[in-house]
Amino acid sequence: MAPTACAPLPAQPVPPPVPPHEPHLPSLAAYHALYARSIADPSAFWRDIADEFTWHSKSNFDPAAGPVHVSFLPDRRTNVAYNALDRWISAGHGARVAFYAEGNEPGRRRVVTYADLADSVARMGNVLRARGVRKGDVVVLYMPMVPELPAAMLACARIGAVHSVVFGGFSSEALAGRIVDSKANVVVVTEAIGRGKKQIQLKAIADRALEIAEAAGHRVEHQIVTKVPGAESVSDEACMVAGRDVDWDEAVREADAECEVEWVESEHPLFVLYTSGSTGKPKGVVHSTGGYMVYAATTFKYTFDYHEGDVFFSTSDCGWITGHSYVTYGPLLNGATQVLYEGVPNYPTPARLWEICEHYGVNQLYTAPTVIRALKGAAPPPQARDGKAEALRVLGTVGEPINPEAWMWYYEVVGARRCAIVDTWWQTETGGHAMTPLPIPGLQMKPGCAMMPFFGIQAALLNGDGAEVEGEGEGLLVIKSGWPAALRTVYGDHGRMEEAYFGRFPGYYMTGDGARRDADGHYWLTGRVDDILNVSGHRIGTAEVESALVLHHAVAEAAVVSVGHAVKGESLYAFVSLMGGVEASGDLRAEIRACVRNEIGAFAAPDAVHWAPALPKTRSGKIMRRILRKIAAGGARTRREDLGDTSTLTDPSVVDALLDTFGK
Ligand code: WT7
Repeated sequence: MAPTACAPLPAQPVPPPVPPHEPHLPSLAAYHALYARSIADPSAFWRDIADEFTWHSKSNFDPAAGPVHVSFLPDRRTNVAYNALDRWISAGHGARVAFYAEGNEPGRRRVVTYADLADSVARMGNVLRARGVRKGDVVVLYMPMVPELPAAMLACARIGAVHSVVFGGFSSEALAGRIVDSKANVVVVTEAIGRGKKQIQLKAIADRALEIAEAAGHRVEHQIVTKVPGAESVSDEACMVAGRDVDWDEAVREADAECEVEWVESEHPLFVLYTSGSTGKPKGVVHSTGGYMVYAATTFKYTFDYHEGDVFFSTSDCGWITGHSYVTYGPLLNGATQVLYEGVPNYPTPARLWEICEHYGVNQLYTAPTVIRALKGAAPPPQARDGKAEALRVLGTVGEPINPEAWMWYYEVVGARRCAIVDTWWQTETGGHAMTPLPIPGLQMKPGCAMMPFFGIQAALLNGDGAEVEGEGEGLLVIKSGWPAALRTVYGDHGRMEEAYFGRFPGYYMTGDGARRDADGHYWLTGRVDDILNVSGHRIGTAEVESALVLHHAVAEAAVVSVGHAVKGESLYAFVSLMGGVEASGDLRAEIRACVRNEIGAFAAPDAVHWAPALPKTRSGKIMRRILRKIAAGGARTRREDLGDTSTLTDPSVVDALLDTFGK
């Protein structure tokens, strides 16, 4: 399936219905008025919003400092955990549900109120302090989607520590790399977890990661181990390393329930989140406290039109930015109630997601196109059977372009034609939604279109020479000014941040995506323009996978491209050249794929490994990926003449050899 962000408009764009209460944005005019103010006077705009939060001392947002050095109310101090929890409890909402935690196995449920969560956070904060964690120290969290994960994130925030969540699908090697890069002394890990039919032994993976880190010269002093009710662990007490490993339940039980709040400067880092870039090494994207807090909260409120009493459900994992901004921070900063689901959308049956929505009366659902496409072919949601989706009002999608067929199914079948679809475009680096349709009554939605910039975002399109494209047209999507949740730096390497995002066109934040602006001024994302791939909404760097492939002793060289995939959006296709004298075989193919699983994680293992006698290169030694992409897409039926001009290759006969090796 080709990404269809540029698909023609459907004959009848569909407006969202009028919600049962006064929406936060009652009309398009209301959006335009707020947007205009956010651009004309960003300081006043964000200060007014910020004033709804708790701060110590006052100052202004200063976007004039430029896109590289955004600073948000730099003379103020605040605490995100205080604003996410204590603020609601002080207002008398301690008994409000923060999380309906739904286990992997149906029927396994826990309810966590704001007061419960605040209690865990305070105790956990003390547990971390007792292990020497101080303001600014990084704590790595390797945990699944259970309430202990947001609690641990908030516990870090409460004491001014910086969390670095590592997605539970990453391997020991990848986890070790992130631990070493961030120099974390404390790791919090969940022992084991059920994900669908599988049991995943996270503690065993983390133990191995700590060994790898130690061999690389970095020793983790403390590992705090949580357990998930019902998950089977193959490890036993003997696996707890004396002096290093600490049992979460015991430690939290014994800890003091009072934990002093660390009021940090607004620009103090809140978290690091590693993400793929165009080089082999992932970048530690650093987000700040104040600007991120206000932006995550504001985008959540407007994009999902969240109102008190609504139940919000995001299927995203806290190992990615979506889980940071729209599970832990945005919702809790709005005092929201949400569903937190441990498992996968299609376990034990493809109806699971719809059952969860129905059981909790979910009002806003936020998921990825890959999930929508996977479920589309399976069980129809219950509302399709009875023709109503009473509770659902806003349906969100994120992470990759959504094709119009999936969009229409989401709108017509899941939303029973009565929900707004918000196709939110943003990135780990933007911290929150940068471009998205908003659930404004009467807004003409366009399937597959991210439509309009959020408050404070000045989007522009550049041509290859760096000139701005005016009016209708296509180009590189950039952001022209600072916004509160802009990444502040790349952990330990500010030069890399400036080079990667501002190096090519100084003064503009380079998103790495291409986009088209239509006659109405709406934006359509056309996909990455760099070497980053998107598989099931997971961002994967070509260079990262290639580095993993060449670690295998039999591999001389590798090049990875993506091919369209009906469910995953893109899937990885690797061209691998073997060392001289090595025979290709099925076993070798499996070993090479395992190499990527070990280095990065199963989600990054290529679906196809094509034995390449050699790779097509230009005279300057650059691999011609355009040709590889065509061969991967065309399969065994690819004809030489489909490949375009190959005359600039050092050795054009390489292409014939590649076409001959299909299915070998
Ligand atoms: C890249 C960022 C942001 C949350 C999850 C991914 C792609 C994201 C959309 C969308 C088209 C999208 C872009 C972007 N992307 N959302 N609605 N339509 N493409 O965060 O891992 O930092 O990846 O995901 O290519 O640059 P991420």
